Amino acid sequence: MNTTIFAHRGASKIAPENTMPAFKLAKSVGAEGLETDVQLTKDNVPVLIHDETLNRTTNGNGYIKNHTYEQLQRLDAGAWFAEKFQGTSILSLDQFLTWSKKFPLLLNIELKTNIIEYEHIESIVLEHIQRHSLQSRTIISSFNPSTIKRFSKLTSEVETALLLSQRIRDPLSYVKNSGAKALHAKYSLLTRRLVEDCRKENMPLRIYTVNRPPRIMRCYKLGCDAIFTDVPHSAIEYQQLFDHRYGNR
Ligand code: G3P
Ligand code: MG
Repeated sequence: MNTTIFAHRGASKIAPENTMPAFKLAKSVGAEGLETDVQLTKDNVPVLIHDETLNRTTNGNGYIKNHTYEQLQRLDAGAWFAEKFQGTSILSLDQFLTWSKKFPLLLNIELKTNIIEYEHIESIVLEHIQRHSLQSRTIISSFNPSTIKRFSKLTSEVETALLLSQRIRDPLSYVKNSGAKALHAKYSLLTRRLVEDCRKENMPLRIYTVNRPPRIMRCYKLGCDAIFTDVPHSAIEYQQLFDHRYGNR
């Protein structure tokens, strides 16, 4: 089977994460999917930023939830990464969906509610997905099982996935109890047994964040459904190598 390659925060090794240049580069190298992180502004606009604060990836500081969208639009989200990306702005979810729906891309929108439980983030994000008619190619994920529970209650049109970073006794029950249909697990949790268990239950298993070639190849060999990678160009190269060596299984 083919492992789907999702660009993690876009092609985030070669462009500033979660920005238009990172998503455009991911698409141009042939990533099939884009992963991104959503937080809410003070005026409830979903924006694409990994951290709860602006400090690391913009020239602003403080919590996103304490800024209006209009305030965020004045910030630079590219210069911290490299001078040539100066002038890159923070993307709203709406801008991201408007652009990505023009291409046959899969989307994984991660709701960042593991630190701040943004009220109504589930219905706000769902409304955006529906407005752009992207239900069938979007996956909603979160580390927070309550978020997934709430989202799953709103709709069955959009696939949900629970993120897992720590070893627990029964990961599949943890996923099912949240109402999620898929498991997005940290690479360190990947075992052949986990792959087999998920397959038996028809539960898609997607692995993050896989950047090193031996790890990428291991995911392909084990038949993981997808990987999230900062280096989609390299993952695609290794997929071609894998297909050539083992045939497309
Ligand atoms: O969705 C996979 C991965 O993005 C989860 O971790 O911290 O990179 O958002 P993080
Ligand atoms: Mg993420």
